[in-house]
Amino acid sequence: MAQPPLTDPLRIGDVEIANRVLLAPLAGIGNWFVRLQARRHGAGMAVSEMVSSFGLHHRNERTLRELLRLHPDEHPVSLQLFGQDPEVMRSAAATVAEAGADLIDINMGCPVRKVCKTGAGAALIEQPELALALALAAAEGGGKPVTVKLRSGLRAGDRSGFELAIRLGEEAGVAAIAFHPRVANQGHSGGPDYELARELCGRLEIPVIISGGLDNAEAARRAYAASGADAVMIARGALGNPWIFEELTGDRREPPAESEIVGELLWVIDRAEEHLGEERAARYLRKFYPWYLERLGTGKAAASTLQRSDDLDLAREIVRGLGSPRVTTAA
Ligand SMILES: Cc1cc2nc3c(=O)[nH]c(=O)nc-3n(C[C@H](O)[C@H](O)[C@H](O)COP(=O)(O)O)c2cc1C
Repeated sequence: MAQPPLTDPLRIGDVEIANRVLLAPLAGIGNWFVRLQARRHGAGMAVSEMVSSFGLHHRNERTLRELLRLHPDEHPVSLQLFGQDPEVMRSAAATVAEAGADLIDINMGCPVRKVCKTGAGAALIEQPELALALALAAAEGGGKPVTVKLRSGLRAGDRSGFELAIRLGEEAGVAAIAFHPRVANQGHSGGPDYELARELCGRLEIPVIISGGLDNAEAARRAYAASGADAVMIARGALGNPWIFEELTGDRREPPAESEIVGELLWVIDRAEEHLGEERAARYLRKFYPWYLERLGTGKAAASTLQRSDDLDLAREIVRGLGSPRVTTAA
């Protein structure tokens, strides 16, 4: 059967998604306003940054207030959980469902030591029985479709993530797999194995979402075709570039004008302040500025003042000085 265009709707469990271009989970980044930004620019759905199932289970106040914060316009939305205890996962899934998540994703791909040493993230690839139990517990606890995002394996030549993905689909009733066909010890470098993703698509009846190496719209289209996947998940390619979603789902052909980049950055500053208050937002935004300034080709002086600024009004003034703002939204 011919692969549908990226603009076709996609169904995951009972959730209807308007198109096949999704924002990937991004730790420390994928909060409600970054997800909303992706949606404003045409993404069919965004997945949250990973949230600790333990933090939710133990009712950590900041985790609940900040990481479970949703915007009414971002539905459908998927919240990603990580952890390695099925009972804790069951309780965390109930909490995220109550907070309004439409889908629950479980992280089985994070290669970061801090996460893996607890037995969560990519470490679950080595514990397939536990991985299946976690997926079942999340489905029971949350009553929402559960998806899993994972790597193809742990080290070169290892396909244990691929095998686990099949078992998750067949034995744990997972509603979709987000597949990052790089092995865990590759981190985020090296070419993803889209052929292996194609093999997975042939083995699973549920949707397979391809992740990895989708740096720009052209690369995303190529990965979609090469893998035969059901959807694409944009990660680093979306940092400071929400226009990638319009390129893939709408009729944007030209890169954003200076005024659009300035308008977008001002929008991000306002939302960050709304989310975290001025003091924390000023620090948080230091991560965001370089993505936008690079696109604007901004000089070093403005960039370094922005990076050091604790004053958001000053930051806004500097950004306005870079061009007249215009905020755009996908039609
Ligand atoms: C800064 C950063 C944070 C990430 N955080 C998460 C995360 O919380 N959960 C997850 O499943 N993957 C996470 N990933 C992996 C991405 O979702 C994606 O699979 C990976 O970056 C490969 O896609 P790319 O090569 O197109 O960037 C993260 C990646 C980056 C660069």
